[in-house]
Amino acid sequence: MKTVAIMNQKGGTGKTTSAINLAGELVRRGKKVLIMDMDTQGNATSNLELTDIPATTLADVICDKDRRIPDAICHTSVENLDVIRGGALLAPALTAMQELPFGRDMTLRRLLPQIPQDYDFVFFDCSPSLESLFNINVLVAVQYILIPIKVDKNSIEGYNVMLETVQNVRELVNPDIRVLGIFMTAVESGSTLDKEMIASFPQMLPELAFRSYIRKNIDVKKAPLALQPLCFFSPRCAATADYAALCDEMLERMEG
Ligand SMILES: Nc1ncnc2c1ncn2[C@@H]1O[C@H](COP(=O)(O)OP(=O)(O)OP(=O)(O)O)[C@@H](O)[C@H]1O
Ligand SMILES: [Mg+2]
Repeated sequence: MKTVAIMNQKGGTGKTTSAINLAGELVRRGKKVLIMDMDTQGNATSNLELTDIPATTLADVICDKDRRIPDAICHTSVENLDVIRGGALLAPALTAMQELPFGRDMTLRRLLPQIPQDYDFVFFDCSPSLESLFNINVLVAVQYILIPIKVDKNSIEGYNVMLETVQNVRELVNPDIRVLGIFMTAVESGSTLDKEMIASFPQMLPELAFRSYIRKNIDVKKAPLALQPLCFFSPRCAATADYAALCDEMLERMEG
C-alpha cells in the first residue's frame, strides 16, 4: 500500500481534481484506491457519488477507540474507489486532536495500520494550508507528496515553502517522506506564458518537475458535476491522457 498526499498551501491549484483523477486512473488500471478527504471544504467527498455511507466518520475513529478506519469507509459508484469523508464532519476531529495532551500530530500515523491492506494506494486530499493540524498529521503519516501548481508567479514562489516544510518533517519525525514531484495543472498550451513555463519548468526544478502537465479542459470541470473521475466521464479527452501520463510518471518515480 502506497500513501500519497496531494498538497500545496496555495488554494485552487488542482489538488482535489488531481487526487480524484489520479485515483480514478489507477482504478481504471485495476488498482484498489482509497481517498481520504482531509479538507474541511469536503470537495473530494462531494465530487464523487457515494453509494454506501456509514454513520461512522473519521472524527468518530479519532475520538472513540472502539471505532476503526474500516467503519468510516464509503464506497462510490466506481468499483474499487472508496472514500473517507471530509468536510464539516472533520470539525470534531480537529477539536479532539487539539485536546490531546501529547501526540497531536501523530494521530493519523497511529491510525494508518487500520487501513485494510488490500488498498494499493491511499490518496490524501489536503486543504490549502501548511499549518493546519490535519496537514501536519498527513505530513507525519505519508510516504509520498505530490505538489500541483498553477502557472502563475505566486504558485511558482509558493512551492519553496512546501519543500522546506517537508524537509523539516523528514528530519524531525518522518524520515521516509519523499516529494515525488511538482506538476502543472490547468495549463493553457495556447498561451505564451504557459508555453514559456512548459519550456523552462524542467530546468527550474531538475529533480522535481514532472514532464507531464495537465491541460486546461472543460471536461475537468464537468466530471465533478457528474460525480465521476475524468477517465470514466470522458475517456478520450486531452486531460484524461494527461492524467494517465502523469500517473505513469508517478509510478516510475515510486519505483526509482
Ligand atoms: N485541467 C483543468 N482544466 C480545467 N479546470 C481545472 C483543471 N484543473 C483544475 N481545474 C479547476 O480549477 C479549480 C480548482 O481546482 P481544485 O478544486 O482541484 O483545486 P484545489 O487545489 O483542490 O483547491 P483548494 O485549495 O480550494 O482545495 C476547479 O474549479 C477545477 O475544476
Ligand atoms: Mg481541494
